[in-house]
Amino acid sequence: MQTEQIVRTFTEYLQDRGHRRITGSTLLPPPGDPVLFTTSGMHPLTPYLEGRPHPLGRRLVNVQRCLRTTDLEEVGDRTHLTVFEMLGSWSLGDYEGPQSLDWGYGLLTEGFGIDPGRLHATVFGGDEQCGPDTDSLELWQRHGVPVERTVEDNWWSNGPTGPCGPDSEIFLWTGDTPPESTPTGDDRWVEVWNHVMMRHRRLDDGSLVPLPQRNVDTGLGLERLAMLLQGRGSVHECDVFDPWRRLLPPLWPLDEPSQRLVGDHLRSAVVVIGDGVHPSNTGRGYVLRRLVRRVLTVLRQDDPGRTLGDLPDELIRHTLDRFRQDVEPSLVRQVLLDEERRFDRLLQQGRRILGRPRFRGPLGEEDFHYLHETHGLPRELVTSLRER
Ligand code: SER
Repeated sequence: MQTEQIVRTFTEYLQDRGHRRITGSTLLPPPGDPVLFTTSGMHPLTPYLEGRPHPLGRRLVNVQRCLRTTDLEEVGDRTHLTVFEMLGSWSLGDYEGPQSLDWGYGLLTEGFGIDPGRLHATVFGGDEQCGPDTDSLELWQRHGVPVERTVEDNWWSNGPTGPCGPDSEIFLWTGDTPPESTPTGDDRWVEVWNHVMMRHRRLDDGSLVPLPQRNVDTGLGLERLAMLLQGRGSVHECDVFDPWRRLLPPLWPLDEPSQRLVGDHLRSAVVVIGDGVHPSNTGRGYVLRRLVRRVLTVLRQDDPGRTLGDLPDELIRHTLDRFRQDVEPSLVRQVLLDEERRFDRLLQQGRRILGRPRFRGPLGEEDFHYLHETHGLPRELVTSLRER
């Protein structure tokens, strides 16, 4: 099943159950929002989860692009991407968690044809502030799905304060052997769909108060589900990466981890630029700068002559189309090339500075700090320059 069909199956299933499709937002949260990028589908809906009536009603479904830098170091493993699409559904003070999980079970098993014997659920086991989620537990028991109880892993929040709640996650077994162990005990259990019973707000002092309404917020990573339904070994091999895997290796032969990183970061950089961000030394622009520089560092390791000018137009266009961004590929390429030139100047300067006697021996924290603060040389770059 191709990603387009996955999106259709998901949205139609929920539309048949009274949900209205809303348009996904850009990666940029509204002004005044403390986070740099939209990290999950619920993010643009925060005011409605907090009680403001939504013009399209109490049941919503959408596809939202998200960016997670917390996972940057995990990129290259089989399940994490920097920019990804999240399928989401919401009950804004309408139906409760068990109904959402029941539809989730139906959609996975009937809509997507997943064998129920390969599912495992987790539920919130309770802590000193909030009791155990027995409603979700009973729902899973009725379906005969094994359940694991956890505490931290089954509490979802978007930050230290704000809307939050217990969640129930659905995992799919990806091993070649019959399912064994539990989601926390074996990483062949891959999380596919999270249902958050979003009905609390955490205050500055850490206490919880009820939100004005009891919501359900669910999120399902599209590329991850595609990987599972397409029987691929990693998100980097699902159909959205097909053109990347066809065009990049002949251009830049790399080992598998580097190929994953380059594909992920370049695709993410295209989307971030497509949403209007330019590289800079702070905020969103700095995230973009890091993505591009990590790519260049990897590309140049084997061959210093590699340039982003060779990135095929087809990949930029394919990505912009996938994320429904109305931007000219030449503009994206220009931003990437300007950043490459800046990086090249920085490299030259870095080599000069690191050639000074003071930096020839082992470097301490103070040296790294000085090189970054005074000369704009990040630790990663210093380390890679000294390795050559
Ligand atoms: N907000 C939850 C998540 O990001 C469910 O959408 O996992």
